[in-house]
Amino acid sequence: MTHHKVIIALDYPSPDLALQFVDKIQPEACALKVGFELFVTAGPVFVENLVARGFKVFLDLKFHDIPNTVAQACAAAARLGVWMINVHALGGIPMMQAAREAIDKFDVQQQPHLIAVTVLTSMNQVTLGSIGVHGEVNQVVSQWAAMAQQAKLDGVVSSAQEAAMIRAQTDPEFMIVTPGIRMPSDSKDDQHRIVSPSDALDLGVTHIVVGRPITQAQDPCAALETFVTAFTRA
Ligand code: C5P
Repeated sequence: MTHHKVIIALDYPSPDLALQFVDKIQPEACALKVGFELFVTAGPVFVENLVARGFKVFLDLKFHDIPNTVAQACAAAARLGVWMINVHALGGIPMMQAAREAIDKFDVQQQPHLIAVTVLTSMNQVTLGSIGVHGEVNQVVSQWAAMAQQAKLDGVVSSAQEAAMIRAQTDPEFMIVTPGIRMPSDSKDDQHRIVSPSDALDLGVTHIVVGRPITQAQDPCAALETFVTAFTRA
């Protein structure tokens, strides 16, 4: 079954370890998220390798800089052939619009989904206030998600906690990509607030990011299948 709505977080310290896992799964079954650790270690060649193997890759580098620099970084990512990229909404509407324009210059088939990170879940009202951002976390997330939609981005990364609020204020095709997903039987690991795949669906989440419950499973294919099934509306 083709299913790119389950995104596996490839949180590995080396390309060899990541590939040992990747060798066990099929490109049709999921998408793969490459974040800072693996990208800094393994670089763009590794990403191109995953793309050449047929995987849809979410390059999770959360670009945040002046508009021109972010636009160039987004274009460079699109040239790698990745499927999804992200920027920080905190960079503002002009920065997100520059990213959008850079992506729009590519042929439609080579355009990655462009999404925004809103408030990092490591931030709370106190830490937000300390950088001069006032208001309840929910209100700030709502405002930044609205900015992302205004800049014509394709979606946002959101915790499950804010997903329903974002769903209510955005178009149905606006992507909501959510980590912190566990089956009821899974370990929480270091996640504080977790939701199940079916609850995520109910909240309007369009894509789930799952790491350790699949990457550390005895049988990763079976674990992936469990998540795919649970994240599919019967
Ligand atoms: O192993 P686990 O399923 O907890 O991995 C979740 C992935 O989602 C990790 O790559 C983590 O960095 C990422 N993430 C998260 N919470 C956020 C943002 C990203 O867990 N708020």
